[in-house]
Amino acid sequence: MKPSQNVTILGSTGSIGVNTLDVIQHESEKFQVYALTANQSWQKLFEQIKTFKPKFAVCADTNAAQSLKTLIHQENLPTEILSGVEGLEFVASSPDVDIVMAGIVGAAGLLPTLAAVKTGKKLMLANKESLVMAGELFMALVQKHRALLLPVDSEHNALFQCLPNHHYQQDNFVPWLELGVEKLILTASGGPFFKDPIEDLYKKTPQQACLHPNWSMGRKISVDSATLMNKGLEVIEASYLYGIAPDRIEVVIHPQSIIHSMVSYSDGAVLAELGNPDMRTPIAHALGWPERLKTQVKSLDITQIAQFDFFPPDYQKFPCLNLAFYALKQSGTAPAILNAANEMAVEAFLNEELGFMQIAKLVNEVLQKSQFESLKNIEQILNIDKQTRQLSQQLLAQFRE
Ligand SMILES: NC(=O)c1ccc[n+]([C@@H]2O[C@H](COP(=O)([O-])OP(=O)(O)OC[C@H]3O[C@@H](n4cnc5c(N)ncnc54)[C@H](OP(=O)(O)O)[C@@H]3O)[C@@H](O)[C@H]2O)c1
Repeated sequence: MKPSQNVTILGSTGSIGVNTLDVIQHESEKFQVYALTANQSWQKLFEQIKTFKPKFAVCADTNAAQSLKTLIHQENLPTEILSGVEGLEFVASSPDVDIVMAGIVGAAGLLPTLAAVKTGKKLMLANKESLVMAGELFMALVQKHRALLLPVDSEHNALFQCLPNHHYQQDNFVPWLELGVEKLILTASGGPFFKDPIEDLYKKTPQQACLHPNWSMGRKISVDSATLMNKGLEVIEASYLYGIAPDRIEVVIHPQSIIHSMVSYSDGAVLAELGNPDMRTPIAHALGWPERLKTQVKSLDITQIAQFDFFPPDYQKFPCLNLAFYALKQSGTAPAILNAANEMAVEAFLNEELGFMQIAKLVNEVLQKSQFESLKNIEQILNIDKQTRQLSQQLLAQFRE
């Protein structure tokens, strides 16, 4: 039997983190939890530490780390507590770690995720924002450090399974188009407001936006799913991940969320990956790859599915999707600007300081007021992220007047 592999879970207290721990718990002979991380949820992290006994635990927030440290000492547990971005980078890059789950939400995931890339880890990528922000630079670092990048987003994981597998022999990269790939088709559930008329969307509350019909997720990605910005970010993610031009990526609304995405080939064949909507499946696929693991996911009974529906997206109702295509076509720093403006807008919406339809309005205004540059380095991206947040803040203040 192979020795068990050490896993760091960045964002273990979130939806992706909890699902990852569930998969690991049922394959505990193969995987050992090395480190767990959170931002402020130190009590939840403490419960996870008691169950999984990691060597390290990190709270990005220093006050939360201090509270956790005190409790760990009181309980006499051996887990070492770290804090800040440095702590996150340390547990993502330690030589003792084999696999890193990038499950932090938003731009906060960029540096720890890159720390795993730069040390050539097997990286399970859920934190799509880091790839959206760093795009080609991210992929160049993956190549340079020979990291093994496995997508966890269910759509990209489905594409990974439907694409020819030759590209993972990195020394002998064959462009997709030579392999007959015509188009990537990303499916979207349509979110909770798919059927609502546009007039109703102006009044939607954070609580309504977070009630996703098929997937149970964190609040930020739930709002992104309701605006379809999540699909937009995924289009950008797919383009960088698979080196495919934006006009070869199509978005299709599939409310049942059973088909997780498709690849269309030059001979007319379309390959799809199907399953019940449960993140433990793509997580298990990435964790075990190239082997298949066993999960507690209910297997799909195809005879119980009454029908599969497909619709084109309504770009008027969901302008965020168009904004993401626009940013991708502009390339360079445009996707990082889109991402930062969106994070600010979603936070304001969740704090009830911005209306649902104003999310796209703010992102659009920020894009219009920004100048795009070609990507140079990570410091530049971090600066752009900071400047864009400042600009968004100014515009948000004007929105409130
Ligand atoms: N949920 C899904 O089904 C799903 C599917 C596909 C892709 N994704 C992607 O996976 C990522 C995580 O999503 P999620 O739904 O799991 O989010 P979530 O439930 O909100 O969890 C986010 C995690 O990140 C941590 N975190 C937040 N801010 C941080 C910061 N500044 N520094 C360090 N850690 C921080 C949180 O810690 P605290 O608990 O302390 O706040 C938590 O552990 C996102 O990029 C999302 O787009 C999610």
